[in-house]
Amino acid sequence: MSTSRQKILVFDSGLGGLTVYRAIRALRPDADYLYLGDDALFPYGALAPDVLIARVNTVIGEAMGDFAADCIVIACNTASTLVLPHLRARYTIPIVGTVPAIKPAASMTKTGMISVLATPGTVSRDYTQELIRDFAGGVAVTLVGSKALAGLAERALRGETIVDESIRAEIAPCFVEQDGKRTDVVVLACTHYPLLLVRFRRLAPWPVEWIDPAPAIARRVVQVIGESRVEGDGACRATFTAGVPAEASLLDALAVGGLRVISSAPAADAKGYTRG
Ligand code: DGL
Repeated sequence: MSTSRQKILVFDSGLGGLTVYRAIRALRPDADYLYLGDDALFPYGALAPDVLIARVNTVIGEAMGDFAADCIVIACNTASTLVLPHLRARYTIPIVGTVPAIKPAASMTKTGMISVLATPGTVSRDYTQELIRDFAGGVAVTLVGSKALAGLAERALRGETIVDESIRAEIAPCFVEQDGKRTDVVVLACTHYPLLLVRFRRLAPWPVEWIDPAPAIARRVVQVIGESRVEGDGACRATFTAGVPAEASLLDALAVGGLRVISSAPAADAKGYTRG
């Protein structure tokens, strides 16, 4: 067994990547982690593609200066569907992305009707269209771009009360009935959404399979960097570009995941970024 502790950088626009971080850490508790949330520019779902590509390159570059990761996980569909080629051209270490789980959904559906619940950015991507074309032939795919849901998930994790009606309205378009058939699989194509999964299940007009990609991403990380290699747990730190979060409920949620928040200068100035 090698004695070096591997380092994994998990990145998202905010708190959604925690769903992915937890799944990876469950498989590789020995690694050192840096969780990086670019909350100064949250939500990414509304950013223009060129702005998003430049921003992710900047914040990842600055984080890598302090934390020379052995693997970068882009725990954000909105970013992954655009920036993976750019990051792979820049770094030789494995870069694991998060893209809509359309292939497993298409093989799981019995009614031939699936929905993809994502940010407006992700549903508009060519990448998403290519996944549908390549893996969902013969399946009716409903793309649902929610403007509000990632923000609602953030607010819930920060301790705010979110009324059922706000959540119900966002998930409602996923449920389609046609010719006596109904949607039976919904892809959670934004890493924030599994944070609200208990409520989605309760508020759904009928039961469906909800696909949370986190376990598959975690297995992919282990596939590319290997199994645990040192004894004991690694150090787990979180940093946010908007500064140290003040909400006790969020700090508790991070602590449950073993994450200690460290302050750092905002990785890049959030001013001057325009919304698409
Ligand atoms: N968590 C991100 C995703 O998986 C996006 C949330 C946002 O910043 O809009 O797409």
